Amino acid sequence: MSRGTYYITTPIYYPSGNMTIGHTYTTVAADTMARFKKMQGFDTYFLTGTDEHGQKIEKKAAEAGVTPIEYVDKIVAETQELWKLMNIDYDDFIRTSQERHVQIVQKIFRRFYEQGDIYKSEYEGMYCTPCESFWTPTQLVEKDGVQVCPDCGRPCQPMKEESYFFRMSKYQDWLIDYIETHPDFIQPAKRANEMINNFLKPGLQDLCVSRTSVKWGIPVDFDPRHTVYVWIDALSNYITALGYGTDHDELYQKYWPADVHLVGKEIVRFHTIYWPIMLHALGLPLPRQVFGHGWLLFGADRMSKSKGNVVYPQPIVARYGVDALRYYLMREMPFGADGNYTNEAFLTRMNADLANDLGNLVSRTVAMIEKYFGGVTPAWDAQAEESVGESLRAHCAELPGLVEEQMDKLQFSQALTEIWKVIGECNKYIDLTQPWVLCKDPEKKGVLGNVLLTLAECVRFVAVLIQPVMPSTPARIYEQLGLNDPALRTWDSLSRFGALPEGLQVRKGEALFPRIDVKKELEALSGNEPAAAKPEPKSEKKEKQDKKGHSAPEYPAEIAVDDFFKVKLQVARVLTCEKVEKSKKLLKMTLSLGPDGERQVVSGIAQHYSPEEMVGKQVVLVANLKPAKLAGIESQGMILCAASADDSELKLMTVEAGMADGALIG
Ligand code: MSP
Repeated sequence: MSRGTYYITTPIYYPSGNMTIGHTYTTVAADTMARFKKMQGFDTYFLTGTDEHGQKIEKKAAEAGVTPIEYVDKIVAETQELWKLMNIDYDDFIRTSQERHVQIVQKIFRRFYEQGDIYKSEYEGMYCTPCESFWTPTQLVEKDGVQVCPDCGRPCQPMKEESYFFRMSKYQDWLIDYIETHPDFIQPAKRANEMINNFLKPGLQDLCVSRTSVKWGIPVDFDPRHTVYVWIDALSNYITALGYGTDHDELYQKYWPADVHLVGKEIVRFHTIYWPIMLHALGLPLPRQVFGHGWLLFGADRMSKSKGNVVYPQPIVARYGVDALRYYLMREMPFGADGNYTNEAFLTRMNADLANDLGNLVSRTVAMIEKYFGGVTPAWDAQAEESVGESLRAHCAELPGLVEEQMDKLQFSQALTEIWKVIGECNKYIDLTQPWVLCKDPEKKGVLGNVLLTLAECVRFVAVLIQPVMPSTPARIYEQLGLNDPALRTWDSLSRFGALPEGLQVRKGEALFPRIDVKKELEALSGNEPAAAKPEPKSEKKEKQDKKGHSAPEYPAEIAVDDFFKVKLQVARVLTCEKVEKSKKLLKMTLSLGPDGERQVVSGIAQHYSPEEMVGKQVVLVANLKPAKLAGIESQGMILCAASADDSELKLMTVEAGMADGALIG
């Protein structure tokens, strides 16, 4: 019986280039969640797709000498291939160029106009003609006294363009109230504070929603010189895919509102400000949750196609299989936090978690059943006392509940940690009970059988529970266990520990995950990792240390001015700030450098400033400092403070009001 519906979405990706491991991360997370809910008996719907319109694609197509639709068709086909390779089991793939989407977006746009949410006016700003882009004053860069384009560095001119605008400001108070009264709407919760403090409270600007200079877009049907500009087009996909606004809106009726939109943290704003306002203006219910996950980073940078520092999943999957990569992506970093992808971390985890922990448990269990029971699972011997395994059996019986609790919070990494705790306990249990000793005493046959049955049943639980993350591994485990009955492979079958029947014919197969030589594999993979992600060679030079063990600089009597100018100091604004877990001293921040993008910085100021006080402050950043890890977290620069000799007093350096974020200091 169905436990209800569950609708989950990924962002629709720009098909401006091939999808990377970053896009794969979100898509695997959504697929994992959909599979988990489906396994639990929910009627699930999983949507992904591509966001195909806009200037960037128009330009890329022109460069490639093809039409925009020819350009995106090719990338969409490759994206769909990649999702197949990654075992992504989506229910629908929406393309914003599809007629089913175009027609409804036109209808929505018209409705907004007719009910007065959209009005026509003029967009006025600094314009870069070669890039066909408007830039706001904070985005512009000043070069030799001239305002230049942050993309191409060429001078910008003041320009006006007729545009339609959405009256966002009208809904601002309603939205603040909605977010404050629906604490689950924006997750992780800190992102809700960012939205309220950084965007809503300072006041929402009306949003430009049409362009006359972009042709590759959905025409505004009552004013066809205009095309619908970006976010109204893109965000609507979540309902147009369900047939909203058509005569066949059964899917919409069944699945809307979505249970969760998974998005990267950089687009939380659009999903928690523009999208709720659009839906409210249409009189529709809001999605239950928008979850903003962190970024897969490469060295100091977020991976991006435009920076060229990308990792693609295909070579990794070809060498190690899809489940190993899916496992790594879901396990390595808590969902919501940033993390680094490195081949080395991936390979190390493969060996430790998959080859050693899981692989060994399965092969030892099956091998021992073969050796001591002729390959057939014995019956549980109620007379044979086997008390060592009691806590393991109790723990494993609770495992589905523990996993469910974490999965319902989208904490994939924690859910896997719970499973791996049981795997670890099983491996310890083998060492404690020593079946190779028990087998020597015929009177212990019953105990030995109970030990092996305990292990085999734990393996069954593990196989069922890893299925959403690693869809193809369970079948290989069931085969080795001789577990042919589909009823014993389900979530519901985990309601009782001890359901594994006697008489199963086990079969030792190939190692699930063979142990690999990390050094050799690193060489084989080296072409698929940007240089920035490689570990820095350790410096031979010994740093001087002060009394407290900190590195203490020894200042030369004087330095040349050129030496001073090697240090790039910039004004940066704190966008987000949080305590680093298990550290008394460290705060982790995201800083905005205006047109130079964002940085993550970890700083030892937690005993002097609270995260709340930091958000919104302008600080001074050493922007070209080599990235370093503090408490395992990458810090991409250093913020400057004045400190007393014993560090008991500390004050941030800042600049007087009025400087743009990113401004150079020197
Ligand atoms: N088209 C918009 C989204 C519109 S949704 C209505 C867009 N597309 S995108 O191609 O740039 O994809 C961005 C999304 O891809 C991120 O929000 C995130 O889900 C995923 N990621 C891309 N690179 C990533 C990392 N390096 N790390 C984590 N996720 C990343 O924005």
